[in-house]
Amino acid sequence: MSKYASWTHGKLPLPELLELKRRGQKLAMVTAYDFPSGRIADEAGVELVLVGDSAAMTVLGHDSTVPATMEELLMLTRAVTRGAHRPLVIADMPFGSFQVSDAVAVANAVRFVKEAGADAVKLEGAGPTLSRVQAIVGAGVPVMGHVGLTPQSATMLGGFKAQGRTAEKAERLYEDALALETAGSFVVLEAVPAPVATRVSEALRVPTIGIGAGAGCDGQVLVWHDLLGLYEGKAPRFVKRYADLGAEAKRALETYVDDVREGRFPEERHTYAIPGEELEAFEGWLVTVESAQAHHE
Ligand code: KIV
Repeated sequence: MSKYASWTHGKLPLPELLELKRRGQKLAMVTAYDFPSGRIADEAGVELVLVGDSAAMTVLGHDSTVPATMEELLMLTRAVTRGAHRPLVIADMPFGSFQVSDAVAVANAVRFVKEAGADAVKLEGAGPTLSRVQAIVGAGVPVMGHVGLTPQSATMLGGFKAQGRTAEKAERLYEDALALETAGSFVVLEAVPAPVATRVSEALRVPTIGIGAGAGCDGQVLVWHDLLGLYEGKAPRFVKRYADLGAEAKRALETYVDDVREGRFPEERHTYAIPGEELEAFEGWLVTVESAQAHHE
């Protein structure tokens, strides 16, 4: 039997996500920030690709996600959608792009769809964000909510800390996730105790995608650079590193540097030939030019 209810080729239909949840089939999501990562994620068979504002840290070298701009995220999303055709591509709305008003949020969400080919957008938070979610969904753009640790408001949360660790906070998180579903979105749960995320996932009809939220979520997301070992520094406890591409890339570059310095690269097979008579004519021309120069000195 096919893994999917209706998806055989082309873009994953959004309603299929609900069917996959109903069947208990887990969803794999990964971030991507450019054409090759979008293409590799597609070829690897993920259902969802997130062009995360984590790009501010992983790709652009900032200390937090806050400085990411619309123009940067649009450019990265365009590159990803050129590479990822089958998965749903979700563009992360950067800080400042949806906080001001519903109208600004809709205008920016529409830009991701029209100008960058995104299939959906992601917004952090609940509470005041709910009316934004409703407005964007109302404008015809699918939305993924994001609760628990929301990096854009890390300062207000007191740092990059797990959320929902008291009964009261877990209750609020549960209510927020339900409200996001009612507003029309599916939901990312970040850095939430596993039993809390499991109960939220059981309560929702739409899929939950967890990051640091345990195996009870309907899907999982990891950041490309964390998964592949491309990010320096201490990884959060929820990261599983599947490769060490940073070390591999460094080794390859060191070998290249050595080869260039020692004259081992390029070799004959890396160069282009010129027919003998053409080379002879060129050399003859050089002799003329050089003797004319000598004559003028
Ligand atoms: O920006 C991002 O990569 C994210 C994921 C961690 C969910 O929001």
